[in-house]
Amino acid sequence: MKLSVIGCGYLGAVHAAAMASIGHEVVGIDVDPAKIEALAAGRSPIFEPGLPELLLAGVESGRLRFSTDMADAAGATMHFVAVGTPQKAGSNAADLRYVDAAVTALLPHLSAGDVVVGKSTVPVGTAARLAELVAPTGAVLAWNPEFLREGFAVQDTIAPDRLVYGLPPAPEDAAVARAAFDEVYAQALSTGTPLVATGYSTAELVKVAANAFLATKISFINAMAEIAEVTDADVTELADAIGYDARIGRRFLNAGVGFGGGCLPKDIRAFTARAEELGRGESVAFLKEVDAINLRRRQRVIDLVVEELGGSAYQKRVAVLGLAFKPDSDDVRDSPALDVAVGLNGLGAEVLAFDPEAVPNARRLHPQLKFADSAEQAVTDADIVVVVTEWKAFRALDPSAVAELTAGKTIVDGRNCLDVDAWRGAGWRYVGLGRP
Ligand code: UGA
Repeated sequence: MKLSVIGCGYLGAVHAAAMASIGHEVVGIDVDPAKIEALAAGRSPIFEPGLPELLLAGVESGRLRFSTDMADAAGATMHFVAVGTPQKAGSNAADLRYVDAAVTALLPHLSAGDVVVGKSTVPVGTAARLAELVAPTGAVLAWNPEFLREGFAVQDTIAPDRLVYGLPPAPEDAAVARAAFDEVYAQALSTGTPLVATGYSTAELVKVAANAFLATKISFINAMAEIAEVTDADVTELADAIGYDARIGRRFLNAGVGFGGGCLPKDIRAFTARAEELGRGESVAFLKEVDAINLRRRQRVIDLVVEELGGSAYQKRVAVLGLAFKPDSDDVRDSPALDVAVGLNGLGAEVLAFDPEAVPNARRLHPQLKFADSAEQAVTDADIVVVVTEWKAFRALDPSAVAELTAGKTIVDGRNCLDVDAWRGAGWRYVGLGRP
Protein backbone atom coordinates (compact mmCIF):
# COMPACT_ATOMS: atom_id res chain seq x y z
CA MET A 1 0.00 0.00 0.00
CA LYS A 2 1.01 3.60 -0.46
CA LEU A 3 1.18 5.33 2.92
CA SER A 4 2.11 8.72 4.29
CA VAL A 5 3.15 9.29 7.88
CA ILE A 6 2.83 12.87 9.14
CA GLY A 7 5.18 13.60 12.04
CA CYS A 8 8.47 11.69 12.28
CA GLY A 9 9.16 11.63 16.01
CA TYR A 10 9.33 8.57 18.27
CA LEU A 11 6.02 7.32 16.95
CA GLY A 12 6.06 8.38 13.31
CA ALA A 13 9.66 7.50 12.43
CA VAL A 14 9.22 4.00 13.82
CA HIS A 15 5.82 3.56 12.15
CA ALA A 16 7.16 4.71 8.77
CA ALA A 17 10.22 2.44 8.92
CA ALA A 18 8.22 -0.53 10.22
CA MET A 19 5.54 -0.21 7.53
CA ALA A 20 8.22 -0.02 4.81
CA SER A 21 9.91 -3.10 6.27
CA ILE A 22 6.75 -5.16 5.78
CA GLY A 23 6.47 -4.12 2.13
CA HIS A 24 4.47 -0.88 2.05
CA GLU A 25 5.59 2.19 0.12
CA VAL A 26 5.93 4.98 2.67
CA VAL A 27 6.64 8.70 2.70
CA GLY A 28 7.42 10.23 6.09
CA ILE A 29 6.70 13.95 6.39
CA ASP A 30 7.89 16.35 9.07
CA VAL A 31 8.30 20.13 9.37
CA ASP A 32 11.81 19.75 10.86
CA PRO A 33 14.34 19.79 7.97
CA ALA A 34 17.21 18.46 10.13
CA LYS A 35 15.15 15.46 11.17
CA ILE A 36 14.09 14.75 7.58
CA GLU A 37 17.65 15.08 6.33
CA ALA A 38 18.88 12.52 8.87
CA LEU A 39 16.02 10.11 8.20
CA ALA A 40 16.40 10.40 4.42
CA ALA A 41 20.04 9.42 4.81
CA GLY A 42 18.92 6.39 6.84
CA ARG A 43 20.08 7.87 10.16
CA SER A 44 17.86 7.70 13.23
CA PRO A 45 17.47 11.02 15.09
CA ILE A 46 16.57 9.06 18.26
CA PHE A 47 18.14 6.13 20.08
CA GLU A 48 15.80 3.21 19.48
CA PRO A 49 17.15 -0.34 19.17
CA GLY A 50 16.58 -1.81 15.70
CA LEU A 51 15.46 1.48 14.13
CA PRO A 52 18.72 2.41 12.33
CA GLU A 53 18.83 -0.96 10.54
CA LEU A 54 15.18 -0.65 9.50
CA LEU A 55 15.62 2.92 8.26
CA LEU A 56 18.67 2.09 6.22
CA ALA A 57 17.06 -0.97 4.66
CA GLY A 58 13.89 1.01 3.89
CA VAL A 59 15.71 3.94 2.31
CA GLU A 60 17.98 1.64 0.27
CA SER A 61 15.02 -0.39 -0.98
CA GLY A 62 13.39 2.81 -2.26
CA ARG A 63 10.19 1.99 -0.33
CA LEU A 64 10.88 4.58 2.36
CA ARG A 65 11.18 8.29 1.56
CA PHE A 66 11.14 11.39 3.71
CA SER A 67 10.07 14.92 2.88
CA THR A 68 9.25 18.28 4.43
CA ASP A 69 6.63 18.93 1.74
CA MET A 70 3.09 17.91 2.64
CA ALA A 71 2.29 17.72 -1.09
CA ASP A 72 4.27 14.45 -1.11
CA ALA A 73 1.43 12.85 0.84
CA ALA A 74 -0.72 13.02 -2.29
CA GLY A 75 -1.19 9.63 -3.89
CA ALA A 76 -1.03 7.66 -0.66
CA THR A 77 -4.23 5.85 0.31
CA MET A 78 -3.63 5.95 4.06
CA HIS A 79 -2.25 8.96 5.91
CA PHE A 80 -1.09 8.31 9.46
CA VAL A 81 -1.03 11.37 11.71
CA ALA A 82 1.65 10.76 14.34
CA VAL A 83 2.52 14.21 15.65
CA GLY A 84 3.03 15.03 19.32
CA THR A 85 0.34 16.10 21.79
CA PRO A 86 2.44 17.58 24.61
CA GLN A 87 1.09 19.11 27.80
CA LYS A 88 -0.16 22.67 27.23
CA ALA A 89 1.94 25.33 28.92
CA GLY A 90 0.30 26.42 32.17
CA SER A 91 -2.40 23.73 32.04
CA ASN A 92 -2.86 19.98 32.41
CA ALA A 93 -4.64 19.66 29.07
CA ALA A 94 -3.13 18.30 25.87
CA ASP A 95 -1.88 20.80 23.31
CA LEU A 96 -3.59 19.84 20.06
CA ARG A 97 -2.05 22.50 17.86
CA TYR A 98 0.25 20.04 16.03
CA VAL A 99 -2.56 17.58 15.32
CA ASP A 100 -4.81 20.35 14.04
CA ALA A 101 -2.01 21.83 11.92
CA ALA A 102 -1.09 18.43 10.44
CA VAL A 103 -4.66 17.56 9.46
CA THR A 104 -5.34 21.04 8.08
CA ALA A 105 -2.15 20.99 5.99
CA LEU A 106 -3.02 17.54 4.69
CA LEU A 107 -6.52 18.48 3.47
CA PRO A 108 -5.54 19.92 0.04
CA HIS A 109 -3.63 16.73 -0.79
CA LEU A 110 -6.36 14.22 0.00
CA SER A 111 -8.41 12.34 -2.57
CA ALA A 112 -11.85 10.76 -2.21
CA GLY A 113 -11.51 7.31 -0.66
CA ASP A 114 -8.29 8.08 1.21
CA VAL A 115 -8.17 7.19 4.88
CA VAL A 116 -6.68 9.64 7.37
CA VAL A 117 -5.61 7.71 10.46
CA GLY A 118 -4.99 9.45 13.76
CA LYS A 119 -2.32 7.74 15.86
CA SER A 120 -1.50 10.58 18.25
CA THR A 121 -2.81 10.34 21.84
CA VAL A 122 -5.70 12.79 22.02
CA PRO A 123 -8.53 13.80 24.35
CA VAL A 124 -11.78 11.96 23.65
CA GLY A 125 -13.85 13.94 21.14
CA THR A 126 -10.92 15.01 18.95
CA ALA A 127 -11.55 12.46 16.18
CA ALA A 128 -15.19 13.49 15.75
CA ARG A 129 -14.09 17.11 15.40
CA LEU A 130 -11.34 16.28 12.88
CA ALA A 131 -13.70 14.07 10.86
CA GLU A 132 -15.75 17.16 10.03
CA LEU A 133 -12.65 18.84 8.61
CA VAL A 134 -11.78 15.81 6.50
CA ALA A 135 -15.32 15.04 5.21
CA PRO A 136 -15.46 17.66 2.38
CA THR A 137 -12.42 16.04 0.70
CA GLY A 138 -14.23 12.71 0.34
CA ALA A 139 -11.58 11.04 2.51
CA VAL A 140 -12.58 9.31 5.76
CA LEU A 141 -11.04 9.65 9.19
CA ALA A 142 -10.26 6.72 11.49
CA TRP A 143 -8.40 6.42 14.79
CA ASN A 144 -5.74 3.85 15.53
CA PRO A 145 -4.09 4.25 18.94
CA GLU A 146 -0.52 3.12 19.31
CA PHE A 147 0.79 1.18 22.30
CA LEU A 148 4.49 1.00 21.47
CA ARG A 149 7.01 1.26 24.28
CA GLU A 150 10.22 3.17 23.73
CA GLY A 151 13.11 0.74 23.65
CA PHE A 152 10.82 -1.91 22.09
CA ALA A 153 9.17 0.36 19.55
CA VAL A 154 10.13 -1.59 16.41
CA GLN A 155 8.99 -4.92 17.76
CA ASP A 156 5.79 -3.39 19.23
CA THR A 157 4.94 -1.83 15.84
CA ILE A 158 5.59 -4.87 13.66
CA ALA A 159 4.07 -7.37 16.09
CA PRO A 160 1.70 -5.42 18.37
CA ASP A 161 -0.10 -7.20 21.21
CA ARG A 162 -3.41 -5.85 19.93
CA LEU A 163 -4.84 -3.63 17.21
CA VAL A 164 -7.57 -1.08 17.83
CA TYR A 165 -9.56 0.37 14.92
CA GLY A 166 -11.57 3.48 15.75
CA LEU A 167 -14.05 3.52 12.84
CA PRO A 168 -16.31 6.35 11.61
CA PRO A 169 -20.02 6.21 12.50
CA ALA A 170 -21.37 6.00 8.91
CA PRO A 171 -21.33 2.31 7.85
CA GLU A 172 -20.04 3.05 4.32
CA ASP A 173 -17.15 5.12 5.71
CA ALA A 174 -16.44 2.47 8.34
CA ALA A 175 -16.22 -0.16 5.60
CA VAL A 176 -13.66 1.93 3.66
CA ALA A 177 -11.53 2.46 6.79
CA ARG A 178 -11.78 -1.15 7.90
CA ALA A 179 -10.72 -2.50 4.50
CA ALA A 180 -7.69 -0.20 4.52
CA PHE A 181 -6.72 -1.24 8.07
CA ASP A 182 -7.09 -4.92 7.23
CA GLU A 183 -4.80 -4.49 4.25
CA VAL A 184 -2.12 -2.39 5.95
CA TYR A 185 -2.00 -4.70 8.99
CA ALA A 186 -2.49 -7.96 7.06
CA GLN A 187 0.76 -9.41 8.36
CA ALA A 188 -0.02 -8.82 12.06
CA LEU A 189 -3.61 -10.05 11.57
CA SER A 190 -2.40 -13.25 9.89
CA THR A 191 -0.50 -14.19 13.05
CA GLY A 192 -3.65 -13.90 15.17
CA THR A 193 -3.09 -10.43 16.69
CA PRO A 194 -6.26 -9.60 18.66
CA LEU A 195 -8.36 -6.86 17.11
CA VAL A 196 -10.90 -4.52 18.67
CA ALA A 197 -12.95 -2.63 16.08
CA THR A 198 -14.90 0.17 17.69
CA GLY A 199 -15.93 3.81 17.38
CA TYR A 200 -13.88 6.99 17.71
CA SER A 201 -14.50 7.68 21.39
CA THR A 202 -13.66 4.20 22.58
CA ALA A 203 -10.49 4.12 20.47
CA GLU A 204 -9.39 7.47 21.91
CA LEU A 205 -10.20 6.38 25.44
CA VAL A 206 -8.51 2.97 25.11
CA LYS A 207 -5.17 4.68 24.77
CA VAL A 208 -5.46 7.00 27.76
CA ALA A 209 -7.12 4.30 29.86
CA ALA A 210 -4.20 1.93 29.18
CA ASN A 211 -1.62 4.54 30.15
CA ALA A 212 -3.66 5.61 33.19
CA PHE A 213 -3.84 2.00 34.35
CA LEU A 214 -0.10 1.48 33.93
CA ALA A 215 0.65 4.72 35.78
CA THR A 216 -1.72 3.70 38.56
CA LYS A 217 -0.03 0.31 38.87
CA ILE A 218 3.38 1.94 39.26
CA SER A 219 2.11 4.50 41.78
CA PHE A 220 0.32 1.74 43.70
CA ILE A 221 3.57 -0.13 44.24
CA ASN A 222 5.36 3.13 45.05
CA ALA A 223 2.68 3.85 47.68
CA MET A 224 3.45 0.42 49.14
CA ALA A 225 7.13 1.42 49.11
CA GLU A 226 6.26 4.49 51.17
CA ILE A 227 4.58 2.25 53.75
CA ALA A 228 7.47 -0.23 53.63
CA GLU A 229 9.84 2.65 54.36
CA VAL A 230 8.28 3.27 57.77
CA THR A 231 8.33 -0.45 58.63
CA ASP A 232 11.02 -3.02 57.92
CA ALA A 233 9.10 -4.52 54.99
CA ASP A 234 10.66 -5.04 51.55
CA VAL A 235 8.55 -3.75 48.64
CA THR A 236 10.37 -5.87 46.06
CA GLU A 237 9.44 -9.07 47.92
CA LEU A 238 5.92 -7.73 48.35
CA ALA A 239 5.71 -7.10 44.57
CA ASP A 240 6.95 -10.64 43.86
CA ALA A 241 4.38 -12.11 46.24
CA ILE A 242 1.35 -10.18 44.94
CA GLY A 243 2.62 -10.47 41.35
CA TYR A 244 2.25 -14.27 41.46
CA ASP A 245 -1.50 -13.67 41.53
CA ALA A 246 -2.23 -13.82 37.81
CA ARG A 247 -5.02 -11.26 38.30
CA ILE A 248 -2.41 -8.76 39.50
CA GLY A 249 0.72 -9.77 37.54
CA ARG A 250 4.31 -8.79 38.32
CA ARG A 251 4.90 -6.41 35.36
CA PHE A 252 4.85 -2.65 36.09
CA LEU A 253 5.20 -3.35 39.81
CA ASN A 254 8.78 -2.12 40.11
CA ALA A 255 8.96 0.47 42.86
CA GLY A 256 11.60 3.17 42.60
CA VAL A 257 12.01 6.75 41.46
CA GLY A 258 8.74 6.47 39.52
CA PHE A 259 7.50 6.93 35.97
CA GLY A 260 8.42 9.63 33.50
CA GLY A 261 8.74 10.07 29.75
CA GLY A 262 6.74 11.75 27.04
CA CYS A 263 3.57 9.72 27.64
CA LEU A 264 2.46 8.51 31.08
CA PRO A 265 2.82 11.80 33.02
CA LYS A 266 1.19 14.07 30.44
CA ASP A 267 -1.45 11.52 29.48
CA ILE A 268 -2.84 11.17 33.02
CA ARG A 269 -2.93 14.95 33.36
CA ALA A 270 -4.66 15.44 29.99
CA PHE A 271 -7.15 12.69 30.88
CA THR A 272 -7.98 14.46 34.15
CA ALA A 273 -8.40 17.79 32.34
CA ARG A 274 -10.68 16.25 29.71
CA ALA A 275 -12.78 14.41 32.32
CA GLU A 276 -13.25 17.73 34.14
CA GLU A 277 -14.41 19.36 30.90
CA LEU A 278 -16.92 16.53 30.51
CA GLY A 279 -18.22 17.10 34.04
CA ARG A 280 -16.76 13.81 35.29
CA GLY A 281 -13.66 15.07 37.08
CA GLU A 282 -14.44 12.94 40.13
CA SER A 283 -14.26 9.74 38.06
CA VAL A 284 -10.53 10.11 37.53
CA ALA A 285 -9.68 12.30 40.52
CA PHE A 286 -7.52 9.42 41.77
CA LEU A 287 -5.12 10.13 38.89
CA LYS A 288 -4.10 13.31 40.72
CA GLU A 289 -3.01 11.11 43.61
CA VAL A 290 -1.22 8.80 41.16
CA ASP A 291 0.67 11.85 39.86
CA ALA A 292 1.41 13.13 43.38
CA ILE A 293 2.75 9.77 44.61
CA ASN A 294 4.90 9.58 41.50
CA LEU A 295 6.41 13.04 41.92
CA ARG A 296 7.09 12.38 45.64
CA ARG A 297 9.41 9.52 44.68
CA ARG A 298 11.80 11.88 42.92
CA GLN A 299 12.03 13.99 46.05
CA ARG A 300 12.40 10.85 48.16
CA VAL A 301 15.55 9.85 46.25
CA ILE A 302 16.99 13.35 46.69
CA ASP A 303 16.14 13.26 50.43
CA LEU A 304 17.75 9.84 50.83
CA VAL A 305 20.97 11.05 49.23
CA VAL A 306 21.07 14.11 51.50
CA GLU A 307 20.33 11.95 54.54
CA GLU A 308 23.12 9.52 53.61
CA LEU A 309 25.50 12.45 53.19
CA GLY A 310 24.82 13.46 56.80
CA GLY A 311 22.17 16.13 56.21
CA SER A 312 23.71 18.27 53.49
CA ALA A 313 24.73 17.64 49.89
CA TYR A 314 26.60 20.95 49.68
CA GLN A 315 29.94 20.48 47.89
CA LYS A 316 29.62 16.71 48.15
CA ARG A 317 30.53 14.73 45.07
CA VAL A 318 27.52 12.82 43.80
CA ALA A 319 27.72 10.36 40.91
CA VAL A 320 24.34 10.13 39.18
CA LEU A 321 24.09 7.04 36.99
CA GLY A 322 21.20 7.45 34.56
CA LEU A 323 19.47 10.42 32.88
CA ALA A 324 17.01 8.78 30.49
CA PHE A 325 13.46 8.16 31.76
CA LYS A 326 14.09 4.45 31.25
CA PRO A 327 16.84 2.22 29.85
CA ASP A 328 17.35 1.65 26.10
CA SER A 329 16.17 5.17 25.39
CA ASP A 330 17.82 8.58 25.05
CA ASP A 331 14.54 10.30 25.97
CA VAL A 332 14.77 12.70 28.91
CA ARG A 333 11.26 14.16 28.69
CA ASP A 334 9.90 14.40 32.24
CA SER A 335 12.69 12.05 33.33
CA PRO A 336 12.81 11.24 37.06
CA ALA A 337 16.54 10.56 36.69
CA LEU A 338 17.24 13.98 35.24
CA ASP A 339 15.06 15.63 37.92
CA VAL A 340 17.14 13.93 40.63
CA ALA A 341 20.40 15.15 39.04
CA VAL A 342 19.03 18.70 38.72
CA GLY A 343 17.62 18.66 42.26
CA LEU A 344 20.90 17.56 43.83
CA ASN A 345 22.81 20.08 41.75
CA GLY A 346 20.45 22.76 43.05
CA LEU A 347 21.33 21.77 46.61
CA GLY A 348 24.95 22.61 45.90
CA ALA A 349 26.19 19.06 45.35
CA GLU A 350 28.98 18.50 42.82
CA VAL A 351 26.97 16.27 40.55
CA LEU A 352 28.70 14.29 37.83
CA ALA A 353 26.10 12.45 35.75
CA PHE A 354 26.40 9.72 33.15
CA ASP A 355 23.99 7.91 30.87
CA PRO A 356 24.95 5.60 27.99
CA GLU A 357 22.70 7.46 25.49
CA ALA A 358 20.95 10.45 27.03
CA VAL A 359 23.83 12.84 27.84
CA PRO A 360 23.38 15.01 24.69
CA ASN A 361 19.63 15.47 25.31
CA ALA A 362 20.18 16.11 29.04
CA ARG A 363 22.92 18.65 28.29
CA ARG A 364 20.65 20.55 25.90
CA LEU A 365 18.00 20.94 28.61
CA HIS A 366 20.36 21.46 31.55
CA PRO A 367 23.70 22.87 30.42
CA GLN A 368 24.46 23.73 34.07
CA LEU A 369 24.99 20.04 34.89
CA LYS A 370 28.36 18.29 34.60
CA PHE A 371 28.45 15.12 32.56
CA ALA A 372 30.93 12.25 32.51
CA ASP A 373 32.00 10.17 29.52
CA SER A 374 31.64 6.88 31.35
CA ALA A 375 30.21 5.37 34.52
CA GLU A 376 33.77 4.90 35.76
CA GLN A 377 34.54 8.60 35.31
CA ALA A 378 31.29 9.58 37.03
CA VAL A 379 32.00 7.53 40.15
CA THR A 380 35.65 8.52 40.49
CA ASP A 381 36.11 10.28 43.87
CA ALA A 382 32.34 10.32 44.46
CA ASP A 383 31.12 10.55 48.04
CA ILE A 384 27.95 8.73 47.06
CA VAL A 385 26.61 6.92 43.98
CA VAL A 386 22.95 7.13 42.87
CA VAL A 387 21.46 4.83 40.23
CA VAL A 388 18.31 6.31 38.67
CA THR A 389 17.97 4.51 35.32
CA GLU A 390 18.32 0.75 35.27
CA TRP A 391 20.62 0.38 32.25
CA LYS A 392 22.07 -3.12 31.90
CA ALA A 393 25.57 -1.62 32.08
CA PHE A 394 24.83 -0.19 35.55
CA ARG A 395 23.30 -3.43 36.80
CA ALA A 396 26.45 -5.20 35.62
CA LEU A 397 28.88 -2.88 37.46
CA ASP A 398 31.35 -4.75 39.66
CA PRO A 399 30.89 -3.42 43.22
CA SER A 400 34.54 -4.11 44.15
CA ALA A 401 35.87 -2.33 41.07
CA VAL A 402 33.60 0.68 41.71
CA ALA A 403 34.75 0.79 45.36
CA GLU A 404 38.35 1.24 44.16
CA LEU A 405 37.33 4.46 42.39
CA THR A 406 34.94 6.18 44.82
CA ALA A 407 35.67 8.19 47.95
CA GLY A 408 32.58 6.93 49.81
CA LYS A 409 30.96 3.51 49.77
CA THR A 410 27.25 4.31 49.80
CA ILE A 411 25.02 3.52 46.86
CA VAL A 412 21.39 4.66 46.54
CA ASP A 413 19.53 2.33 44.18
CA GLY A 414 16.66 4.49 42.91
CA ARG A 415 15.41 1.66 40.70
CA ASN A 416 15.85 -1.32 43.04
CA CYS A 417 17.76 -2.89 40.19
CA LEU A 418 21.10 -3.85 41.74
CA ASP A 419 22.15 -7.14 43.33
CA VAL A 420 21.88 -6.18 47.01
CA ASP A 421 23.95 -9.11 48.28
CA ALA A 422 26.78 -8.43 45.82
CA TRP A 423 27.00 -4.74 46.80
CA ARG A 424 26.72 -5.37 50.53
CA GLY A 425 29.13 -8.28 50.17
CA ALA A 426 31.71 -5.92 48.68
CA GLY A 427 31.42 -3.65 51.73
CA TRP A 428 28.96 -1.11 50.38
CA ARG A 429 26.16 0.57 52.29
CA TYR A 430 23.26 -0.23 49.95
CA VAL A 431 20.11 1.90 50.18
CA GLY A 432 17.10 0.82 48.08
CA LEU A 433 13.62 2.34 47.91
CA GLY A 434 11.06 0.72 50.17
CA ARG A 435 13.39 -2.00 51.34
CA PRO A 436 15.42 -2.40 54.51
C1 UGA B 1 4.20 3.97 27.63
C2 UGA B 1 3.30 2.72 27.54
O1 UGA B 1 3.92 1.64 28.25
C3 UGA B 1 3.11 2.32 26.09
O2 UGA B 1 2.22 1.21 25.99
C4 UGA B 1 2.51 3.52 25.33
O3 UGA B 1 2.34 3.21 23.96
C5 UGA B 1 3.45 4.71 25.45
O4 UGA B 1 3.63 5.03 26.85
C6 UGA B 1 2.82 5.86 24.72
O5 UGA B 1 1.82 6.38 25.21
O6 UGA B 1 3.25 6.16 23.63
P1 UGA B 1 6.85 4.36 27.46
O7 UGA B 1 6.57 5.81 27.78
O8 UGA B 1 7.79 4.03 26.35
O9 UGA B 1 5.48 3.60 27.11
O10 UGA B 1 7.44 3.75 28.78
P2 UGA B 1 7.04 2.61 29.82
O11 UGA B 1 7.77 1.38 29.52
O12 UGA B 1 5.57 2.54 30.00
O13 UGA B 1 7.68 3.25 31.15
C7 UGA B 1 7.19 4.49 31.65
C8 UGA B 1 7.90 4.87 32.91
O14 UGA B 1 7.49 4.02 33.98
C9 UGA B 1 9.41 4.78 32.86
O15 UGA B 1 9.95 5.93 33.48
C10 UGA B 1 9.72 3.54 33.67
O16 UGA B 1 10.97 3.59 34.27
C11 UGA B 1 8.61 3.58 34.70
N1 UGA B 1 8.29 2.26 35.29
C12 UGA B 1 7.86 1.24 34.52
C13 UGA B 1 8.40 2.09 36.67
O17 UGA B 1 8.79 3.00 37.41
N2 UGA B 1 8.09 0.87 37.21
C14 UGA B 1 7.67 -0.16 36.46
O18 UGA B 1 7.40 -1.24 37.03
C15 UGA B 1 7.55 0.02 35.08
